[in-house]
Amino acid sequence: MLSEKMNEALNVQANRELYSSYLYLSMSYYFESVNMLGFASWMRVQAGEELVHAMKMLDYVVSAGGRARVLAVEGPRVFWASPKEAFGQVWDHERAVTGLIHSLVGVAEAEKDEATRSFLQWYVDEQVEEEESSDSVLKLVLAAGDDDAALLAADRELGHRSFKFPRGFEMFPYASAQ
Ligand code: FEO
Repeated sequence: MLSEKMNEALNVQANRELYSSYLYLSMSYYFESVNMLGFASWMRVQAGEELVHAMKMLDYVVSAGGRARVLAVEGPRVFWASPKEAFGQVWDHERAVTGLIHSLVGVAEAEKDEATRSFLQWYVDEQVEEEESSDSVLKLVLAAGDDDAALLAADRELGHRSFKFPRGFEMFPYASAQ
């Protein structure tokens, strides 16, 4: 059973994951508007992953006997000056999320909630990957600089990213339960 404090902290983090999804979806539409469809596609996959991060957390809250609350999501910005600025924000954002996940681990430890601590390890590991991928994408975009041909090549390369559900996560659990 989750403590009130742990339950609330998980609901708040799920809200931050939903905000991440909104942010990347907004970036995806921005890239679509400037006809960079590979970057738009990369962001759309990222937005989908963040939605899954939020749902996985709320699913856990329910399975641990808590109450899942889907809180209001702040609206993200809608325009960036360049791919460099947008991907720079992704990198900053992911580092900030890592800090939030580590604080959440701190709450689980303070609450002596071993089950939640163990559940959160997936997010700790995921953040290592998230930082790594946002770092490599930012480096690619920075290396392209203002060279249109290099940016086009980077756009094409990022367009190959595909979406994968985390192992064990069910997007539509109620459908399969019927
Ligand atoms: Fe769910 Fe990118 O952190």
